[in-house]
Amino acid sequence: MQWNIPISKHLQHGELNLEDKALVDRAIADLPNAYAPYSNFRVSAAIRLDNGSILSGCNQENSSFPVGICAERVVLSAVHASHPGARVLSMAIVCNDGKEGPHEPTAPCGMCRQALSDQVSRQSTGMRLILSTINGPTWVLDEATDLLPFRFDFQQ
Ligand code: THU
Repeated sequence: MQWNIPISKHLQHGELNLEDKALVDRAIADLPNAYAPYSNFRVSAAIRLDNGSILSGCNQENSSFPVGICAERVVLSAVHASHPGARVLSMAIVCNDGKEGPHEPTAPCGMCRQALSDQVSRQSTGMRLILSTINGPTWVLDEATDLLPFRFDFQQ
């Protein structure tokens, strides 16, 4: 068996459509909300909901390292806290390691891929991912679950 991960678009910032650019800009604007004193690696995730709202979340580290949480799961929790039942149409993820660019975008870690996969199952519609960085290209994936081939799904 063989899986491919289709990255539909590889774009520069100015080439993004207006909605995606707004989402990436929101993620960049909120990067200072990251709390990353241990890794100095800031991650910000902004989402567009089907009710028109945009929410963001950033990684929050902890002096007890495993307690820290990634940006993607912070913002997914915010959806269920403040917009229960809303569907996530798109998520933009931006990172900044504090070093000079240009950089490549960062893809979600394995635990976040599982969280994204479960969100897609819960909402019964797909979710686009816009992987970007403060100084580099943007990769657009039309379906977040493409990042987790042969995924675990309890509801199957
Ligand atoms: N991080 C995220 O926020 N999202 C990911 O998908 C990968 C990693 C955070 C966790 C930690 O605070 C820092 O980046 C370095 O691993």
